[in-house]
Amino acid sequence: MDADAKRNTVLTIIAVSFLTLAAAFSRDRGALVPGEQIPPVDPIFTNTATARVSGAELYRTGGDTSGLECYLCHDRNKPVKLTLDANNKVVLPKEHEDLQMGHGKHNRNNNCFNCHDETNLELLQTRDGRELKLVESTPLCGSCHGPTYRDWEAGAHGRTSGYWKRDAGAIVRQDCVACHNPHSPAFPPRKPAPAPHSLREGLETASSHSNTH
Ligand code: HEC
Ligand code: HEC
Ligand code: HEC
Ligand code: HEC
Repeated sequence: MDADAKRNTVLTIIAVSFLTLAAAFSRDRGALVPGEQIPPVDPIFTNTATARVSGAELYRTGGDTSGLECYLCHDRNKPVKLTLDANNKVVLPKEHEDLQMGHGKHNRNNNCFNCHDETNLELLQTRDGRELKLVESTPLCGSCHGPTYRDWEAGAHGRTSGYWKRDAGAIVRQDCVACHNPHSPAFPPRKPAPAPHSLREGLETASSHSNTH
């Protein structure tokens, strides 16, 4: 065989191999099966609300704020006394039985007046002596959780809503209490959202044992 004939043979073998491969691929394409309807994702996974409705949010949206108006029940002229049990735990009256105290895993921060002002219940007090409105609690949290507050201010903790393009509008950093209950702040566990749907439902059924939905 001369050089030309050799080259032609090789080229023919390559061309035939590619054609065979193309035929094989097009036969085994995993055609789209017009299968069952893909059910919509449960709205709890697409809802963008924060984990909790803060007092500030209640005022903004016209919700029931009676629980935040302490002097609907308390007497301004009568100082509140804490009732403590043998272990120095605050005993709550039935009017406050919905409060679950558990700030931290060691119950180190359950004293009401670490945060509320005993001389004016409608105010909060920080360790360094600042007085804040009940609905402006984020700096209160920051007064004890310095590193987290620094992260929050920089946008690395919590959630920033609003605009990427700052000249189109402002950004909003969600308050700590929009996610954490101040009285028992551990973030509640959440269910993971379902895995994405594969376009090739046939393949998905075959491998669905490895999915968690
Ligand atoms: C629905 C009525 C009601 C509202 C609203 C209310 N309280 Fe009370 N609270 C009570 C009663 C009743 C007691 C028990 C008697 C007392 O200490 O005056 C109490 C007790 C307390 C105590 C003492 C707990 C203990 O050991 O006995 C604190 C602290 C307190 N309240 C804080 C507040 C704060 C802060 C607010 C507002 C953010 C508020 N309360 C709003 C009814 C209320
Ligand atoms: C770590 C700080 C902190 C401690 C400790 C604390 N509170 Fe509060 N409390 C807050 C903040 C902040 C709010 C406002 C929450 C909001 O904006 O949603 C609040 C809200 C409340 C309210 C009104 C709304 C609600 O959540 O029911 C009551 C009543 C109340 N606190 C009572 C108490 C009592 C009684 C104690 C002690 C047993 C206590 N708090 C301990 C920070 C604290
Ligand atoms: C007076 C100081 C003080 C203030 C004010 C305070 N914290 Fe705390 N926080 C603590 C301490 C102390 C712990 C518990 C650390 C431990 O148990 O190891 C804690 C624990 C926590 C935890 C971890 C909870 C867990 O179970 O792991 C979160 C979340 C938290 N705080 C959020 C907040 C938020 C939100 C606020 C504002 C509403 C706030 N804290 C205000 C002192 C404070
Ligand atoms: C958008 C929701 C959101 C906001 C706003 C938010 N947090 Fe958190 N925070 C979380 C989540 C989620 C975790 C992690 C919980 C877990 O790992 O179980 C967390 C964890 C924490 C912890 C536990 C310790 C740690 O760092 O792992 C502290 C303390 C805390 N946050 C404080 C704050 C304070 C203070 C603010 C406000 C300055 C704030 N958070 C605002 C969602 C939020």
